Amino acid sequence: MSELMKEKIVIFSGAGISAESGLRTFRDMNGLWNEYSVEDVASPAGWAANPSLVLRFYNERRKAVLEARPNAAHYAIAKLEERFNVVVVTQNIDDLHERGGSSTIIHVHGEILKARSSLDPALIYPLSTPDIELGDCCGKGSQLRPHVVWFGEQVLHMDEAEQHFATASKILTVGTSLSVYPAAGLVGFAKTSAEKYLVSPDSQEPPPGYRLLQGKATAVVPRVVTCWLEGRKPS
Ligand code: OAD
Repeated sequence: MSELMKEKIVIFSGAGISAESGLRTFRDMNGLWNEYSVEDVASPAGWAANPSLVLRFYNERRKAVLEARPNAAHYAIAKLEERFNVVVVTQNIDDLHERGGSSTIIHVHGEILKARSSLDPALIYPLSTPDIELGDCCGKGSQLRPHVVWFGEQVLHMDEAEQHFATASKILTVGTSLSVYPAAGLVGFAKTSAEKYLVSPDSQEPPPGYRLLQGKATAVVPRVVTCWLEGRKPS
């Protein structure tokens, strides 16, 4: 069956899906934003004030990503492609969905394993070394920066992501506090008739029309995937 004929599933992931791969989330107890100031390391003003601090912060994140491995949730999501047209929309800058085997992934907050020109945002480079250093330049001679979205910057591929939410018949949101907009607002583009779930270990309030499946990603996501592959609704 061609991809277009298949039922569409959107997976919307956040930092929590990679937590069991050893990557830190942002707002949990051990979250990155409890240790670092967003303004210092993830904003254009922080970059202007202290680029070496920003580069060091993301070099550490990149090292952690390179050492991490996909977990059972990432792998299960890829398995859905046996039967469905699966689009992963992720707020994560890691590449664990790619390494878990998913083929269509939209990174709305960028990708840590790419660098981009601080002069021309269209100049994006896959990184061949783990670190970006001061003095590493783009083809036009300006400093390279991580290809990640900072607070106050434009989120990427939103039109495309909205379209996928609006045309999916099943949506699985997993591992996100849904506190950062505009990405968090994507859940509102879903059809009323779509089957919609939020996976969280906490008693997190799901968005309207979504049902909470409480538990960790590696326990809940494979269970949901098995149900969907067998044509059942997860209980
Ligand atoms: P948060 O840190 O805000 O939320 C992580 C969510 O994952 C929380 O709801 C946790 O309860 C949940 N969680 C933790 N462990 C989990 C597990 N094992 N299984 C399932 N869920 C788990 O992370 P995000 O929502 O991804 O943006 O944060 C959104 C954005 O804020 C990030 O993309 C980043 C950050 O600032 C930028 O840097 C632009």
